[in-house]
Formats: sequence, structure tokens, C-alpha cells
Amino acid sequence: MTSRPAAGPPLAWAEPAGPVFPRDHRWPVTIEAAGVRLAPFRRRHRAEWDRVRERNADWLRPWDATPPDGISHGTTAEMIARLNADAKTGRTVPWVIRDLRAERTPLIGQCTLNNVTYGSALFASVGYWIDREWAGRGIMPVAVALAVDYAIKVMRLHRIEICLRPENAASLRVVEKLGFRDEGIRPRYIHIAGAWRDHRCFALDASEVGPGLLGRVIGGRR
Ligand SMILES: CC(C)(COP(=O)(O)OP(=O)(O)OC[C@H]1O[C@@H](n2cnc3c(N)ncnc32)[C@H](O)[C@@H]1OP(=O)(O)O)[C@@H](O)C(=O)NCCC(=O)NCCS
Repeated sequence: MTSRPAAGPPLAWAEPAGPVFPRDHRWPVTIEAAGVRLAPFRRRHRAEWDRVRERNADWLRPWDATPPDGISHGTTAEMIARLNADAKTGRTVPWVIRDLRAERTPLIGQCTLNNVTYGSALFASVGYWIDREWAGRGIMPVAVALAVDYAIKVMRLHRIEICLRPENAASLRVVEKLGFRDEGIRPRYIHIAGAWRDHRCFALDASEVGPGLLGRVIGGRR
């Protein structure tokens, strides 16, 4: 990782009711819009996270990354500690998703900016999942729009990528709703559900995002 982009001009939003973003990226950071909150994934969330993951094990298995060497990634607490150490250096931005419209604003998923690269690339990839009970309410398009708008406007990244298994129809709808550009298949790209899986990759760069992605999907939040 080399130097991060210098601070730019104050943020200008097309929609007056757009999310409130800080001017510069600093971890931890919380952002929200349309009743969807992206909150830092912290140690105190581990029991709640474990419960959601356990309840959704079958739902998530076909799409979950797996260790190619078969060696476990350790406990949830160790994973959170690793993510936060990386977040402090700017290499990742690990958020949990909360539905602010539900009673007790439960933790319902994750949305993470991964592989953040600075220098002349200014790149990140987005990973996400949602609790099956909350699927189909238009929450993930809002969560990903928030994450991408933050990455472009606040972190001043240039390119955001989302790669998914071609058979993941629900995830394909997410990138379609957001207007991501299809860049085609990468063979045996990521180790998912126990094997190297082909992925279909989608991307957007800052010139394609315009005033932000949130305006493209906010009306679809159910
Ligand atoms: C992909 C995923 C994040 C979409 O999140 P979401 O908040 O449900 O997104 P949306 O509400 O926009 O729904 C997207 C599509 O899912 C499908 N869908 C809707 N309700 C559904 C349900 N109850 N169960 C399964 N799929 C459903 C529909 O095709 C929908 O498209 P539509 O809005 O045109 O009908 C979610 O399905 C998920 O977490 N899946 C398992 C993990 C995963 O695939 N992660 C992504 C890896 S790349």
C-alpha cells in the first residue's frame, strides 16, 4: 500500500437528504440511509454475529469463501481483531448491517470493502451477505450503494469491483440494480464452498458513479 489520496473539496450531494458522510476516511466509521446502517464490526458483536451465521449456515454456504488449505480462520473474536487491525491501516472497511426500521435494530448482515489498494490503483472490492429473513427487502442494494458512495466520495477510490458466482441470481440482481458494468468471467477466481469457483466480475469507476449510487436504489427499499 502506498500513500492515500489527499483531502479533496467538501462533499456535494445531488439529494439534499443524502447520507451524512465525514469528509475524510477514519476508522471506525458509521454511515446510514433509508433505515440501513453500516456500523463498524466490533468485538462486542461476536455473539450476535455467531447467532445470525449459525441460523443462516445453509443459506450462506454456497456463496461463502473457504480456506483453500482447509485450515480454519480461527474464532469469531480472532477474525474481528484481524479485520479491525486491517481497518486501521485502511486495507479493509468491515461493516455490519443493521435494519433501523426493525425493533432493536438487529444485526442482519455484513458489507465489507476488501483489498483496498492506494497509489495508482485506488481500488476496492465489495463483499456482502444478508440474513435470509431480511432478504428481498431491497436492503443490500442500499447497503452496497452506501459503501460504494463512501469509497468513491470519502476514500477517493477510483474503481470498485463486485465478483460473484454466475449462478447467484440474487446477487446478480443487486449489481444490476446498482448499474454495475459486466466485465466477464474470471475462471477459478476465488475459493468458495470448498473449491476454486469461476466468478463473473462487475465494476464501476468514479466517472460512472456520478452523484452517487444511493439515488439509483433508495426507492427500492422495502
Ligand atoms: C445476494 C443478497 C445479498 C441480496 O440481498 P437482498 O437484500 O435480498 O437484495 P434484494 O432485496 O435487492 O433482492 C435481490 C434479489 O433476491 C431475490 N430474492 C428476493 N427475495 C428473496 C428471498 N426471500 N430469498 C431469496 N432470494 C430472494 C430476488 O430475485 C431479488 O430480486 P428482485 O428484487 O428483482 O425480485 C442475498 O440474497 C444474500 O445474502 N444471499 C446469500 C449470500 C450471498 O449470495 N452473498 C453475495 C455473494 S456475491
